[in-house]
Amino acid sequence: MIGIFDSGVGGLSVWREIYRLMPGESSLYISDGAFCPYGSKDPAFIRERAASISAYLIDRGAEVVVVACNTATAAAISSLREKFDVPFVGMEPAIKPAALHSRSGVVGVLATAGTFKGRLYLDTLARFAGEVRVVEQVGEGLVEAVERGVFDSPELDDLLHHYIDNMLAAGADHIVLGCTHYPFLQETIARIAGPEVVIVNPAPAIATQIKRVLSNMREVSNGRGDFFFCSTGEIPVLKELARREIPDLDDSHFAEILI
Ligand code: DGL
Repeated sequence: MIGIFDSGVGGLSVWREIYRLMPGESSLYISDGAFCPYGSKDPAFIRERAASISAYLIDRGAEVVVVACNTATAAAISSLREKFDVPFVGMEPAIKPAALHSRSGVVGVLATAGTFKGRLYLDTLARFAGEVRVVEQVGEGLVEAVERGVFDSPELDDLLHHYIDNMLAAGADHIVLGCTHYPFLQETIARIAGPEVVIVNPAPAIATQIKRVLSNMREVSNGRGDFFFCSTGEIPVLKELARREIPDLDDSHFAEILI
């Protein structure tokens, strides 16, 4: 079984790529809705939440844990790897493909404050940004909108305009989605950014990485897996987004939990 967690529903953008790539693999997804957002929280607190949730997933049979949250990856992935025996797969801002393909030499990255402050991000920049100029933008308020189930609204448009116009003014021709919530805003982001700008969602590459990790452990299963979704907060938006991918998931696949 694959265990996946995020501060909220954003990690479903990773879960759905795992599902598309390996529909036979069962998964348990945990949204830490009670403590969302992580972006502005102390890394030590995020490390504690990540450890408690990982222990919960491993107790229930997770063979691999996906930290489907850039902010939690930045704060906690090394401590999780030290603490637990199962493999962990985390998120990495997709600066490399954006830098490789940029024609203007300017790449925009939209992420949370916590992600930009992490060493992982700085290392990624140092390794992959090369000659490219990177314009960083904190997506204040975007995680909250997705958590409320708002994917398109006049207020969201204003907010996104504010963030994206800055990047466009700097000449960005790629925008990297550095937070797993943002792919649920991808259509709105693409409309605002215009057809010349490439939006980079790292989730499919992460799913491929998870498949690689699993394949090293055992054969990837065929057929159809079982899928469960839990939240320490509310579940309506979790349900809505999971059902976009698998419409016949009934209520028995969702639960509110305490961790
Ligand atoms: N999905 C999380 C990420 O990728 C959102 C962080 C937050 O809760 O602020 O960074």
